[in-house]
Amino acid sequence: MGNTGDEQQRGTSFGSNAAGYAEHRPDYPREAIEWALEPVAGRSGLTVVDLGAGTGQLTKGLRAAGITVIAVEPDARMRDELVRNHDGVEAHLGSAEHIPLPDASVDAVLAGNAFHWFDQERAFPEIARVLRPGGVVAALWNDDDTRVDWIAGLVRIFGWDSTTSPTDRLRQHPLFTELAHTDFRHGQRCTTDSMVARMATLSPVLALPQERRDDLLDRIRRHLNEHPDTEKGEFDLPIRTTVTRAELRGSGD
Ligand SMILES: C[S@@+](CC[C@H](N)C(=O)[O-])C[C@H]1O[C@@H](n2cnc3c(N)ncnc32)[C@H](O)[C@@H]1O
Repeated sequence: MGNTGDEQQRGTSFGSNAAGYAEHRPDYPREAIEWALEPVAGRSGLTVVDLGAGTGQLTKGLRAAGITVIAVEPDARMRDELVRNHDGVEAHLGSAEHIPLPDASVDAVLAGNAFHWFDQERAFPEIARVLRPGGVVAALWNDDDTRVDWIAGLVRIFGWDSTTSPTDRLRQHPLFTELAHTDFRHGQRCTTDSMVARMATLSPVLALPQERRDDLLDRIRRHLNEHPDTEKGEFDLPIRTTVTRAELRGSGD
């Protein structure tokens, strides 16, 4: 499952709006992080890599849970924004295919809304290399709940397929145990302005020429201003956080 040149370009487009990303993208529920790390929870001095860390949405939750985080992110603009927002965090330029850490040095590698950008054929062995025995790899995704009418309306405006499941996005790999999945309810308090600003951080929107991007964001604003659930200006955005995890197989497994 290698990424095409076009996907690679989109995967590194977020930095053109790093400040917007930091301000408007959601964090992750504590229970989702705890579930992801359950197989290594008892270890002392737990060290976790936030891979594809962006501006630190997942780093924030990990640090709040008292966990030592090493952020790894390929885009310097995103990494710099992360460092600005998270005092004293260890943050490296690197990618899922080249993690700048020694062999067997961390307990878990987590990725928030990022695993689908990785070249999984190269990423899994690289993640396995940096994990200690029995270490965890986990992918978390925050997805807007498209069963909600006003969000389904947004999807229609975008013309996107909203049916991708975690199993479509993350492949089973022989170095790791069978994938386990679960999901959690999450949410974000939004205003029309913040929702439009959040939409402006999505990679397909960042890829549009300015005129088409402005037109799309105008249509989103009109939709929010006209829908009964959002027209009053402040509303909850319902999010489903899905988590997929697996453990590094030992030589005897
Ligand atoms: C949608 S953002 C997610 C950021 C953050 N983890 C979050 O939860 O909001 C995807 C991030 O993955 C990074 N990325 C893209 N390709 C990558 C790769 N091959 N290895 C690691 N990170 C990658 C992008 O630069 C971007 O910061």
